[in-house]
Amino acid sequence: MLRSIFISLSKISWAQRAISKGKFAWKLASRFIAGENKDSALRVVAELNSQGLLATLDYLGEHAQTIDAAKGAVNKVLVLLDDIQSAGLKANVSIKLTQLGLILDEEFCFNHLLTILAKAQENDNFIRIDMEDSSLTEKTLEFLHQVMVRGYSNVGIVIQSYLYRSEKDTRALAASRVPVRVVKGAYRESEQVAYPDKGDVDRNFDLLTSILLEAALQEDTPLHSHNGRFPPLPAIATHEVKRILFAREKAKQLNLTPDRYEFQMLFGIRRNLQHELVKAGYFVRVYVPYGTHWYPYFMRRLAERPANVWFIIDNLFRP
Ligand code: FDA
Repeated sequence: MLRSIFISLSKISWAQRAISKGKFAWKLASRFIAGENKDSALRVVAELNSQGLLATLDYLGEHAQTIDAAKGAVNKVLVLLDDIQSAGLKANVSIKLTQLGLILDEEFCFNHLLTILAKAQENDNFIRIDMEDSSLTEKTLEFLHQVMVRGYSNVGIVIQSYLYRSEKDTRALAASRVPVRVVKGAYRESEQVAYPDKGDVDRNFDLLTSILLEAALQEDTPLHSHNGRFPPLPAIATHEVKRILFAREKAKQLNLTPDRYEFQMLFGIRRNLQHELVKAGYFVRVYVPYGTHWYPYFMRRLAERPANVWFIIDNLFRP
């Protein structure tokens, strides 16, 4: 119920204007967001790197409403890629296709994606295409396929375990040796396309993890790069200890070395767990979002965990 309210709020523009104006909202959101500008985010990444953590930077934005907004986002990502390179950071970049103009014009968006991939290639870097709601899954996979046909291999995708279709998609991606980040899924989906029960989403998450870890055994699978930017084929992205333990156990059974998979978590969530995994010898990449368009991302983080609402209420009444 609360989850649905927050996900609905994430799409309502008057709510966005009202909520993101307030200093208080930013104070709360800043738990999950590295800063409103790039320099703060780069500082956060340098700090994470010094602690043995890798990063993926996300210039926040989605559903660009105008051609200029989409072009602006692309320019920010291009400069970001140069900055990562000149600072020598162990970070790649995550993008969303609607941020690049997918809703406005597909060809225009596709060309933006090619421009970003070319710049990333020039800077020895990797781009992860985040997965948005299920109305865009097919198109996102098609774009991935099309850029690969054009010779780009510095690209990966996200698969959501709440979708019924994900097992089939994961098997196909694993067979093509495409780096996949497996997540549970953060959008509101109908029972026609997604498992309504958490138990099924979790079971499917473990299944997808197994498929990816098994594929990572193959000789030609992508491995961790020395510059910390190219991920291996499986990225297990969750904060849930049970899912992480499952992946660790499976990797052990398969005798997989830690350079063949990585764990991923979001900035500001379960930092101790991130550090514990690094100490235990695993690769961990932190998703570091930044920018002024933080509202929908923040609402999805609230939706994920009802306890966050109590955190807000508690803060509201604190002097
Ligand atoms: P679950 O929600 O069961 O949480 C497990 C535990 O983690 C909770 O009990 C709590 O302790 C902690 N936790 C989780 N979320 C929290 C929060 N918001 N605040 C505080 N604690 C929290 N989704 C998507 O649809 N497309 C995408 O491209 C991505 N990309 C992505 C990248 C990375 C690196 C991560 C980690 C996640 C995503 N996601 C995503 C989000 C994902 O789909 C999912 O919504 C969240 O990861 C929460 O699910 P968990 O697997 O953590 O489990």
